[in-house]
Amino acid sequence: MNISKSEKITNIATKRGFFFPTAEIYNAISGFWTYGHLGTLMKRKFENLWRDYFLKLNDNFYEIEGSNILPQKVFKASGHLDHFNDPLTECRKCHFRFRADQLIEDELNINAEEYPLEKLDKILKKEKLSCPKCSSQDFQKTKSFNMMFDLKVGSTGTEISYLSPETAQNPFLSFKREYYALRETLPFGLAKIGKAFRNEISPRQGFFRLREFTQAELQIFFNPDKLDEAESWNKIKNYKLQLYLSKNNKITLTSCENANKKLNLPKLYLYYLAKTQQFYLDTLKIPKAKFRLRELSEKERAFYNKIHFDIELDLETLKGWKEVAGIHYRTDYDLEKHQKASGEKLEVLNEGKRFFPHVIELSFGVDRNIWSLLDIFFKEEKERTLFTLPTNLVPVEVAVFPLVNKDNLPKRAIEVYNSLKDKYQTFYDFKGAIGKMYRRMDEIGCPIMLTIDHQTLKNNTVTLREIKTMKQIRINIKKLESTIEQILQGQKLNKFGKYIS
Ligand code: GAP
Repeated sequence: MNISKSEKITNIATKRGFFFPTAEIYNAISGFWTYGHLGTLMKRKFENLWRDYFLKLNDNFYEIEGSNILPQKVFKASGHLDHFNDPLTECRKCHFRFRADQLIEDELNINAEEYPLEKLDKILKKEKLSCPKCSSQDFQKTKSFNMMFDLKVGSTGTEISYLSPETAQNPFLSFKREYYALRETLPFGLAKIGKAFRNEISPRQGFFRLREFTQAELQIFFNPDKLDEAESWNKIKNYKLQLYLSKNNKITLTSCENANKKLNLPKLYLYYLAKTQQFYLDTLKIPKAKFRLRELSEKERAFYNKIHFDIELDLETLKGWKEVAGIHYRTDYDLEKHQKASGEKLEVLNEGKRFFPHVIELSFGVDRNIWSLLDIFFKEEKERTLFTLPTNLVPVEVAVFPLVNKDNLPKRAIEVYNSLKDKYQTFYDFKGAIGKMYRRMDEIGCPIMLTIDHQTLKNNTVTLREIKTMKQIRINIKKLESTIEQILQGQKLNKFGKYIS
C-alpha cells in the first residue's frame, strides 16, 4: 500500500511514543494531541534550546509563567474579541462547517487568508467549489467565527473568561510589575513558554494545526526612539538573511546592512531576524534550502503588527512552505490598549521622556517546530526508516543492548546502562534480535547504540554503532563517556577507532 510521508511519520510517532491523539479511545476530537514519552523528551529539549538561545541574547531578558485563563476585558482591550476571527462557511446540504479561505486555497492554490467575507463568497460561487464532505455547491453566507474558547469562571458563572489564544498577553499584563522590579531599564524582555488555545474551525494537517498548542514567545520592550539601533549591529550587519519579500516572490540573500538601507527595515528588528535565522540554521541545523523569512503584506499581517516576517520551512509532508514562527513589530499597540481599557498607567518615564515602550515579539509554535523537525530529518532506506535529528534534539541519546539474553550478557549490559543513565538519556532494550533492536532505535533517531557481547566479558569492550552510516567500532568501556560526549557534540565516529563493519 502506498502511504504518504505524513502518514509514515504519524504512524511512527503514535506507535513509538512521540505523540498520539488525545482521548483516542473515545474517538478523539481533532486538534488535540498528547505527547508520549519520546515526544515529551524532544519537546523539552526544543524548549530548553530556545530558552538557552533567546534568553541569553540580552542580560535583561527573563521568563515568566502566567495564567492561561484570562478575563474578557483583556481580550476586549487586546482586540481579540473583535478581530480574532476566521471565515466560517456551512454547507446547506450536509451542514459541514469549514473555513472558506482554506477551501479556496486548497482548490485554487492562491493565498486567500485575508480576503473579505463577500469576496470569499463570490469566489466559492464563481469557481463552483464543492463541499469537501458531500460535493454540494450550496453554501450559507460566510461569516466571522471568533476562535477563542470561552469559559464561565466561578459558581455564579458571571465572570466570562477565555483560554488565551496567545501566550503574549501575560507579558503585557505583567509589564508594569516587571518593569519596576527590573529597575526600569529598557530594553527588557519577558518570555513565556506555555499553552495557547484556538477553536480552529476544521483543523486538518494532523499535528500541525492544533486547537491546544504550545507557544514560546518573547516580548521585547524598548524605547521607540531606539528602533534603528542594535547593540551588536556590527556582528550581524554583513550577515545574509534569506528574505522572501512580498513584492518579488523569490528568496533573495540580503545583508542586514542592505535590508536596513534599501528595505527600510529597522536595525533592532533586523537583529532579531538574523538571530532567529541563525537559531534555525546553526542550532536546529535546518538545511538552508528549506528556510526562508517571508514578509507579510499589510493585508496579511495580524491586526497588531506593523512589520511582520514569518519563519517558513519547506515541508514535504505539507506540500510546501509553512509558517512555524513569526517576528512581529507590535509597536505600542498592546500597552496603549491595555492602559486605555484598565486605567492603569503603562507609559513609562525613561531617560527623561514619557512614552509607551514598543514591542518586538518573537513568536514560535513549539509543536509545529517539532513536526517540521520530524519531516525534515526523516529518512527512508531499503531496510529501515530513521530520523537523522541533530543530537541536541534527540529524545534518546544512547541505547544499550545485550547481544543475546543469556551468558551473563544482560547483567553486564545493565551495568553499562546504569553507568550512563544519569548523564545521558539512555534506553535499555533486550526484546528481540539485535537487528530488530537497531531498527527500533533508528526509527526514533537514537544516535548511539551500544551492544554488549561475549567479547565484552573478556576484554571490557563494546560495539558502538552510529545511526547515520550504521558503521560500528569496538571501544573500551572506560572510554565510553568521553566518546559519547564528543559524538553528541558532533564529532564523527571514525575519530574514535577503526570501523569493524
Ligand atoms: N503572539 C503572536 C501570535 O500568536 P500567531 O502567528 O498567531 O502569532 C504564532 O502564532 C505561532 O504559533 C505560529 O507561527 C505557529 O507556529 C503557532 N500556531 C499558531 N496557530 C497554531 C495552531 N492552530 N496550531 C499549532 N500552532 C499554531
